Amino acid sequence: MEVINVEDEVSKEKTKKNKKICVVGLGYIGLPTASMLANHGYKVVGVDIDENKVNAIKNGTLQIEEPGLMTLVKGAINSGNLIVKTEPEEADIFIICVPTPAVENNGTKKCDLSYVWSAARSIKPYLKKGNLVIIESTIPPNTTNKLHEFFGEGIYVAHCPERVLPGRILIELVENDRIIGGVDKKSAELAKEIYQSFVDGNIYLTDATTAEMVKLMENTFRDVNIALANEFAKVCEEIGVNVWEAIELANKHPRVNILKPGPGVGGHCISIDPWFIVEKSKNAKLIKTARELNDKMPEYVCNLILREVEGIENPKIAILGVTYKGNVDDTRESPAKKIVAMLISKNFTVKCYDPHAKVFDYELCDLRSCIENADCIVVLADHNEFKDFNEEEIKNIGSKMRTKKIIDTKNILNHELWEKCGFDVVLLGDGKRFRKSKL
Ligand SMILES: NC(=O)c1ccc[n+]([C@@H]2O[C@H](COP(=O)([O-])OP(=O)(O)OC[C@H]3O[C@@H](n4cnc5c(N)ncnc54)[C@H](O)[C@@H]3O)[C@@H](O)[C@H]2O)c1
Repeated sequence: MEVINVEDEVSKEKTKKNKKICVVGLGYIGLPTASMLANHGYKVVGVDIDENKVNAIKNGTLQIEEPGLMTLVKGAINSGNLIVKTEPEEADIFIICVPTPAVENNGTKKCDLSYVWSAARSIKPYLKKGNLVIIESTIPPNTTNKLHEFFGEGIYVAHCPERVLPGRILIELVENDRIIGGVDKKSAELAKEIYQSFVDGNIYLTDATTAEMVKLMENTFRDVNIALANEFAKVCEEIGVNVWEAIELANKHPRVNILKPGPGVGGHCISIDPWFIVEKSKNAKLIKTARELNDKMPEYVCNLILREVEGIENPKIAILGVTYKGNVDDTRESPAKKIVAMLISKNFTVKCYDPHAKVFDYELCDLRSCIENADCIVVLADHNEFKDFNEEEIKNIGSKMRTKKIIDTKNILNHELWEKCGFDVVLLGDGKRFRKSKL
């Protein structure tokens, strides 16, 4: 039986916690990670180039809608283990969590690595032999190796992609399994030590390029699956079938799990990451097609709206929900942006309401001004607030509208109740208009 020397373990733990960690980029990923590490006893310096964000974190006024986050951040700051600033400083470990958006690239898209390189340049003057740099940002295959070359000999480098779900970040940071890819074995093992301090899930070690590919494959799998659901939605509409019912029944098969259709794929991950594979390989044909199909869904929804308001003079459209998914405040890459732009280009009056979003490309208004005199409500995000509308609220909404019509692109409404309140309800992917028979 292995004999554990308790004193050794305690002193090992102490040495670990004496390590200082510099987290670069304090957004949806960096801030929870920095706070989590600080709450687990590490000395953490959080760095963000955005001075307003740094000040808001210091003052406890940062507005990120993520359950439990601000309590965690305040705890970390009050304990003295987390300080935040705009410039990096010397540390033992650096964790890079900066954005990696996709940019146009000859008709397709590729990763914009400029934030990652500027973060890498900003920490390089502080690096000492034996330091570890971890890249958490999602990156195309082979980027970690290039960063290793840039940092030079004696610096350990690992890629530890983040797989948390917004809205559940604090739970998933702890519970999810993690993949760690090192440029060598020692790098991976050193990174594992850090994550072990707060991760309850399994930690799997591999090489850096495999870890990069694993992260991209996860999101690509979901994107392709959603593309299939979206294609099924179009086909079902054409042949008079309700796609939601069909998917639910198909998923009764023990080995089938089709995701849900919708107005398009948004957010900072699924709508972007597959492009990082496409840019690296001529063989990524299915991935590219799926991406294009999902990117065209806003146009499909826009055409659905046009069909439903045909004949109405100067239609006013009320958009409910502009975030890329339900119950979060994130509007990055949201399909709502494209749909609103297309409707405005048709000279429609468009008003947007979202109980979660604070920042959007178009003006957000309250529910009342959004639906007043509207001819069609379009639900684009599955926020609980929309699911929970009761009869009185629906009647009240209807009484303010010019035409009582609602398009549900997420299948979240109680359609019978809306119909009972006098609404013409249209569901994305429902071939109701073309259906020949009904049980
Ligand atoms: N948001 C998610 O749910 C999620 C999930 C998994 C992976 N990721 C990946 O994690 C990475 C970060 O995403 P995010 O959502 O946290 O982004 P974010 O935009 O919320 O935050 C990034 C932060 O980095 C800061 N920044 C940019 N350049 C900097 C620099 N040179 N030095 C210091 N700070 C800098 C920005 O000001 C911003 O505050 C991305 O690669 C993303 O794909 C995100």
